[in-house]
Amino acid sequence: MTDQPRVLIFDTTLRDGEQSPGATMTHAEKLEIAALLDEMGVDIIEAGFPIASEGDFAAVSEIAKNSVNSVICGLARANFKDIDRAWEAVKHAARPRIHTFIGTSPLHRDITQLSQDAMAEKIHATVTHARNLCDNVQWSPMDAIRTEHDYLKKVVEIAIKAGATTINIPDTVGYTTPRESARIIEMLVNDVPGADEIIFATHCHNDLGMATANSLAAVEAGARQIECTINGLGERAGNTALEEVVMALKVRNDVMPFATGIDTTKIMKASRLVANVSGFPVQYNKAVVGKNAFAHESGIHQDGMLKNAETFEIMRPADIGLTETNLVMGKHSGRAALRQKLKDLGYELADNQLADVFVRFKALADRKKEVYDEDLVALMRDTVAGE
Ligand code: KIV
Ligand code: ZN
Repeated sequence: MTDQPRVLIFDTTLRDGEQSPGATMTHAEKLEIAALLDEMGVDIIEAGFPIASEGDFAAVSEIAKNSVNSVICGLARANFKDIDRAWEAVKHAARPRIHTFIGTSPLHRDITQLSQDAMAEKIHATVTHARNLCDNVQWSPMDAIRTEHDYLKKVVEIAIKAGATTINIPDTVGYTTPRESARIIEMLVNDVPGADEIIFATHCHNDLGMATANSLAAVEAGARQIECTINGLGERAGNTALEEVVMALKVRNDVMPFATGIDTTKIMKASRLVANVSGFPVQYNKAVVGKNAFAHESGIHQDGMLKNAETFEIMRPADIGLTETNLVMGKHSGRAALRQKLKDLGYELADNQLADVFVRFKALADRKKEVYDEDLVALMRDTVAGE
């Protein structure tokens, strides 16, 4: 236990991540990801957008029913129908949350054709409605970063008075910079009445490659919830990557003394699962989870690593669930190697399960020269699905 301020991790892989063109996931895949997020200590799982489709509704309901520790959240636009549908889906969770949002920047007000006052009334009515259904309500002014500061303060105050318990400040188009991100949170914390009774969240997109830096700057300024996705999956250039903010807070705890509840040794397993399910491979040099993140090629680096790993590594591979072994799997590999390799990938098997997987592995190895980690993850997922 630590007495450092706690930063809540809100994972939206299943909602904002799934909105990534081409990243649609099946019902079973969503349940599998949610179970792993819950197990790894994610505080809040945004499980989907229940009004978007029957499939989304069913997935959010079932994730809510199966949830153990995580708060389960459903997204809703600023209207009663969306909010009721979100509540119908999340109400099965031990700890449900409704997340409702509306675009507050001038560009969005133009689209919805709402004056500042009309929008403020709508915010009051919809947040009040959500709070009458659920005592855990998150409200987001979409495109907050490009919303006039005075208007942003006004609508945040209205949402707090109407019962919002978390106020999320989205950088919807990945436009902000670390210093601006911090200043906006500071301004809201200092100037909005009631700010000390709620949690501020930061939700950054990565269009300019600054999502991680902007999220951490917001935390230093007073935000206590980071919204993120595994592998940074998300619309356009993606969202803040969970593995990056969590490991940054762990590795640089000396300068950012905040705690999260994440079991970081599950990070690699989650990364592989999301890559496999979404069909979005992780770039080789991706921070923390890329194939090359712990690889050393140059002679000087290899020599330094052999003498003292800290020379060129700021995290230990084991911290994210990677083991030191690098077993190359093929048709000549035996049961012991397969067992070890699967253990490295996060799967511990009983003898009878191993026997079954071994037969399938051999059949695969006969068809392929080398069986990659991704092939084994897919094989394990098929095996679990078939059980
Ligand atoms: O990026 C965004 O503004 C969102 C909202 C729905 C919170 O994802
Ligand atoms: Zn978003």
